[in-house]
Amino acid sequence: MNLTCSINNKTVSREVAPDMMLLDFLRSQGCYSVKCGCETTNCGLCTVWMNGKPVLSCAVPALRAGGCEITTLEGVREEAEEFGRFLAGEGAEQCGFCSPGFIMNVLAMKRELSNPDDREIREYLAGNLCRCTGYAGQMRAVRKYLEAVGRQEAEKQETEKQETEKQEAQKS
Ligand code: FES
Ligand code: FES
Repeated sequence: MNLTCSINNKTVSREVAPDMMLLDFLRSQGCYSVKCGCETTNCGLCTVWMNGKPVLSCAVPALRAGGCEITTLEGVREEAEEFGRFLAGEGAEQCGFCSPGFIMNVLAMKRELSNPDDREIREYLAGNLCRCTGYAGQMRAVRKYLEAVGRQEAEKQETEKQETEKQEAQKS
């Protein structure tokens, strides 16, 4: 059956088997950041965005992505690298296996929640498992990243406000 969707802003149209999962489809299209850890919706490693919302691609039939915008880590590389610097700063880097899904969820949370507290952050990221570390370093990195992003956003808004005020003053 034909599947046409957008992957990281590029339209893709392919024949796929009815039982193919989105995870396998994305990997077949070269999105190797998408990893399979369990295939039973328990680990979060396969997280991608479908129309901007995180989904577990091991549990989504590929055909359900028809007409959708799919985003993988390859499509948000710059943002991922920025967050990666915060992880490194806290000594909380994770392996290439669990990092992509974790990062996709952190970046989705940044878009969805404004000023989340620790409980909200933990709840949002609860589905992302790592077998080998604690989560304290990652929590510190997430908090510092969200604070930095909040500051950048506030500075941007202030600059835009000043620009608008200047333009209005020039008009009058
Ligand atoms: S591979 Fe999808 S949740 Fe584990
Ligand atoms: S660092 Fe990747 S599974 Fe623990």
